[in-house]
Amino acid sequence: MGASAKIGAMTGQARHSNALAEAAEEAARVGVGGYDRHVFLCIGPDCCTPEEGAAAWSHLKKGVAELNKRDGSSHIARTKVGCLRICRLGPTAVVYPEGTWYGGLDPAGLERVLRDDLGGGQRVEDLVIGENPLP
Ligand code: FES
Repeated sequence: MGASAKIGAMTGQARHSNALAEAAEEAARVGVGGYDRHVFLCIGPDCCTPEEGAAAWSHLKKGVAELNKRDGSSHIARTKVGCLRICRLGPTAVVYPEGTWYGGLDPAGLERVLRDDLGGGQRVEDLVIGENPLP
């Protein structure tokens, strides 16, 4: 490797290192390190329509924000995803660390998950489609 290639590689490493530092700052800003629950919501398009998925995501974001405000910390994280490989009767969600999978999350069902599981620590048994607790 020539001198200019070495300088270019070092510059690339410095850029990468700076980008990682910025990403780490953003991770800390959004609360990474302080979560004790994380809910992933599939917003379709196969388990539900994009409109149903968008409405569910909006509902979940608002509900999680209220719970975090109630509890005085951002301990519940929420993430929207494009597929959880169930692809029917959605919106579909999974809550970690318990690994409780939910299906059929119409607005009333999602509200029950927010209130009883995320807000109260009790599974909503009749909406559970699977479980996969993480160690
Ligand atoms: S599209 Fe939602 S689970 Fe596949």
